[in-house]
Order: sequence, then C-alpha cells, then structure tokens
Amino acid sequence: MKASVTAHRTYTVSRIDDRVYGAFLEHLGRAVYEGIYEPTHPTADANGMRGDVANLVRELDVPFVRYPGGNFVSAYNWEDGIGPKEDRPTRLDLAWHTSESNEVGIHEFADWAESVGTDMMLALNLGTRGIQEARDFVEYVNHPGGSAWSDLRKKNGRADPWNVKLWCLGNEMDGPWQVGHKTAYEYGRLANETAKAVRAFDRNLELIVCGSSHANMPTYPEWERTVLEETYDEIDHVSLHMYFRNPEKNTADYLALNQKLDDYIGTVASTIRYVKSKKRSKKDVTICFDEWNVWYHSNQQDREILDGANGWPHAPGLLEDIYNFEDVLQVGCVLNTFIRNADTVKLAAIAQLVNVIAPIMTEKGGRAWRQTIFWPFWFASRYGRGTALHLVTDGPGYDCAHGDNVPFVDVSGVHDEAAGTVTLFVVNRSQTDTIELDTRLAGFGKLRVETHKMIRHDDLEAVNTADRPDEVAPQDGTGASLDGEHLTCPLPALSYHVIRLR
Ligand code: AHR
Repeated sequence: MKASVTAHRTYTVSRIDDRVYGAFLEHLGRAVYEGIYEPTHPTADANGMRGDVANLVRELDVPFVRYPGGNFVSAYNWEDGIGPKEDRPTRLDLAWHTSESNEVGIHEFADWAESVGTDMMLALNLGTRGIQEARDFVEYVNHPGGSAWSDLRKKNGRADPWNVKLWCLGNEMDGPWQVGHKTAYEYGRLANETAKAVRAFDRNLELIVCGSSHANMPTYPEWERTVLEETYDEIDHVSLHMYFRNPEKNTADYLALNQKLDDYIGTVASTIRYVKSKKRSKKDVTICFDEWNVWYHSNQQDREILDGANGWPHAPGLLEDIYNFEDVLQVGCVLNTFIRNADTVKLAAIAQLVNVIAPIMTEKGGRAWRQTIFWPFWFASRYGRGTALHLVTDGPGYDCAHGDNVPFVDVSGVHDEAAGTVTLFVVNRSQTDTIELDTRLAGFGKLRVETHKMIRHDDLEAVNTADRPDEVAPQDGTGASLDGEHLTCPLPALSYHVIRLR
C-alpha cells in the first residue's frame, strides 16, 4: 500500500503560533503537590520546587502554562494563596472533593514559571465569583504599583508586575458539573462585562472565553453562537476542550478520533465567522484549545479513591493515567490536527503537565520520568514551529465509527524557513500493513534527510514506569530516502515518525 503526499513551499495554511504547544497545570491531585512542588524532595530548590520535574518541563519547552484550573478555579479564592504561608487557610475544594492547603499560590507559581522559562495563562473564577474578583486579581498581577492590590503584591515580595497577557474568563461554564454553571446567555453577559472591566487595565490583554467542554455537550455548538454574540468585541479566543478515550479497546475507532476533533474545530471556526459577519466586525477571533489529551485509563481508580476517601484528602493520586504506546499514536494525530488547522487554532494546552493526565510522572520523594506521550509532544514542540504546509494527500483508508475512508496515514508538515527545514509528522494507523510514504517536496531547494525518528512497540499497551522509563521511546527510523524532490519511507503498521529534512 502507498500513501502519496505533495508539499509545495507556497501551499501553506498559516504560520503556526508557538503557543499551540502550551500546557495546563491545575490544583488537582498530585499535579502541584508532589508534582512541581515538594519541599522535602532531594532535588527541591529554595522555593520547594522539584528540580527533576523542572528539568523535564524545560525539555518540553512549553510557551505557557495555564493555571490554577480547570474545575478547581470555579470555587477558588486567589487571595488564599498570597502572604505568609503559615497564615494561608486550608479550603475544601468543591471540584475534586479534596483539601487545598494553599501552600502554592500565584507567587510560587509565577517564580516556578519563570524558572522553567514559560509564560503564565491565568484563569479567573467566574463560577462562585465575578467582575470584582477578576479586577482585583488582574490589578494584583499586572499593575505596577500605587494601588491597594499592587502595593500588597509588593509587600508580599514581588516588586515588578508580572504582566500576564493571557486570561481565561472562567472554565467550562457550559458544564453542569461546574461550580456556578450558567446558561450560555448568563455566562456570555458575565464574561463580556468581566472582559470590559479587566481591559480597563490593559487593552492588550488576550482574553479567552469558554466554548464547549466537548463536542458531545447538548448545548454545542449553540453555546458558542450565543456566547460569541454576547462577547465578540471584547474577547480574542474561544476555549475548546476535548479528551480522547478508548475504554472499549477499539484501536481503529480510537485512532480516528481526530476526525471528530477536526469537525469540532471546523464547526467552531464557522460559528466564529458567522458571528463576525453578523456583527459586521473586522476583528478575528481564534481558537484556544486549552485542554486536550487522552484521559480514561484512571477512571476506575479515581472512583475507588474518591469512594474510599475519608473526608477531604490533600493531594490524592487522582487522574493518574498511565499512558501506553497506542496513546503515542493518538497524541501524534491530535498534534497533526492542530498543525493542519494552524490558521484557526492559535493556542492549545496539553492537559495536564505533571502527574494528572500528564506526560511527566513523579514518585513522592523519588523519581520523575517521561510517560509515553511525552515523546510526540516533545517532537512537535521542538520541530513543529514554523509554517504549516497545506499537504495534498491521497491513499488508502478505512471505515469506522468516526467516518468513512479515514486515511491510514495521518500527516502534517511544517516549513521553518529561518532554519531551512521541512518536517513531516506521520502516523500509520493501519494495524496490519506497512505503508509506503511517497512524498513530493516542491520548491524547497536542495534538501537532505537530517533526522528520521520512529516510535513503535510490538505491544500497544506497553507503558513507561519509574523502573522502565524508556520502554516506549524514540528510536532511529530506517528507510527514509530522498531522491531530488522525491521522499520515500516505509511506515510499519502502527508507528509514529518524525522526518526532518534540511
Ligand atoms: O483536566 C481535568 C479537568 O477536565 C479540568 O479540571 C476540567 O476543566 C475538565 O473537565
């Protein structure tokens, strides 16, 4: 079997916003406590932040980290996390039924973000709170001084404002599970008024309004239309979320889920255009896909933890999905979809970063390691910057629950003009066949194959653990060959590839 791909230097989708490789960190489970923060850990720095975890985060080179939630934010008081630690209150977190010690708050998170070289994306509580809290928090974080909140920040040890640009107007407000859940109209009105208030500080903030929690929500996509009609002039991005699951162990269906993702993005992009036309607006709104990942492996364990929990535990091991090789292929397909939609999806965040549905796992007091999905994210974040190519593809496909003739080969291409590279990210979803990739690369000048890496394992369920951290890891690919403009490469059944040409 053969799959043909044509790439031309001038057939482009858009420049890829580097911020499509962002990540998310919530006060949930062991993401913060025992994740990034563990003062008694042998690698902890003076602020109690784990050095081994910080190093792995640096490897991923995420341009921003979204914080502090998630569902958590919708009942969170940011003021609980400032001032002397010994004075901070312990609160009951309504979202995850746990105790929040508030040992980590905005100062600790900001210092950590700076130390790992990432920007902050902060979420505002529009569940239990509203405009007042939002304006106070933005003033605390971004105002230089001479006002009550900014002077309190200084007193608490941070002289300069952090100048955070990215602000989420709540989280998943369409979800009945959300504390303070609202109808689209109620939320749209509140988000619009909150946006106006915080823009008074800075016209250049980038504001993100909640879209749908997933494409099966009964309110989707009417939610987006209503919310955008209320907020269009004041916001910059619509947030979408989607998690990928395979509880029935149906690989064919599972690996085709990015068809659904692609429809979801297309539908919301059309809704944005509809509202733009209706408003006679010149302004563009884009998509911020600020929660995405595989999430299902830990569902049963979470039920047991929560059912067996005595009261409100602090940092229990919730949402600790252990990822397998099959998930590498899924994450590869998701990232390919974002690259192919680079004109619309300008920001995205893998959910989450450490321990909680995350590429990085830790032991309390012990080791930190890379989960299987670390690798496709690492490759995309490292090599997927530049301009997304509009590839013309043709090849065999299969019928499944998410579409007919779903191509076995899922591919995206990135041209980095400055570096002089063309990179192809390729997944072969066929469970039985090696497929010959047959690519024509036109207009890029003389190239050679610089790197070919492959991830493959005989066992779809193979995982990485603290004892076997490299069970699923990149290896050198074989067989990529370039003859003039013609690149060929055999893609074994169920394999992930990065082919970089320079
Ligand atoms: O990432 C885990 C949870 O998933 C987040 O708290 C919420 O926003 C989503 O439902």
